[in-house]
Amino acid sequence: MNSLLKSKVIAILDRKGQSVNTRLQEVCEMLKAEIPHYDWVGFYFRNGEKEELKLGPYAGAPTDHTIIPFGKGICGQVAVSNANFVVPDVSAQDNYIACSITVKAEIVVPLFVNGKNIGQIDIDSNTPDPFTAADERFLEFVNLEVSKIL
Ligand code: SME
Repeated sequence: MNSLLKSKVIAILDRKGQSVNTRLQEVCEMLKAEIPHYDWVGFYFRNGEKEELKLGPYAGAPTDHTIIPFGKGICGQVAVSNANFVVPDVSAQDNYIACSITVKAEIVVPLFVNGKNIGQIDIDSNTPDPFTAADERFLEFVNLEVSKIL
C-alpha cells in the first residue's frame, strides 16, 4: 500500500478536535473509497469485559451482526487467536458469519493496545481472493496508528 494512503490515515487520526468515533468513521470511509477491493470496512471492539465484539464505526452496507460472540465467525476467531485471518474464499469457511451475499473474501486484523487484543479491523471484498501480504502490513499499520488515539 502506498505512502499516500498511510499519510491520509495519519492526517485523519490527528484531527484532535473530532471524537475518536468520527475519526475512525472517516478512516473507514477513506479506505473504502480509495481501495477498490475494500467494499466494507469496519472496526469491532471488545464489549466491555464480555466475551463478545461490538460493532464500532464502519463504512458500507449496514450489518445485522453488531454483536459477535468470541469464537464465532472470522471476527470472533480473531478475538481469541490474536492473529490476522485472511479468507480468500468465504464459501470455503465453516465458521463464517455472512453479512451480504455479494461478499467473496474477508480480512480481519487484530488491534492491540498495550499488548492486549481490544478489537479489530474487518474488511469484506466482493472480489475473490484479493488480499495480499501488503494488505496485512497496511492494516497492521492502520491499527497501530489507531491504537495511539484510543
Ligand atoms: N463475516 C464476519 C462477520 C462480520 S461482517 O463481515 C461485517 C465474520 O465471519 O466474523
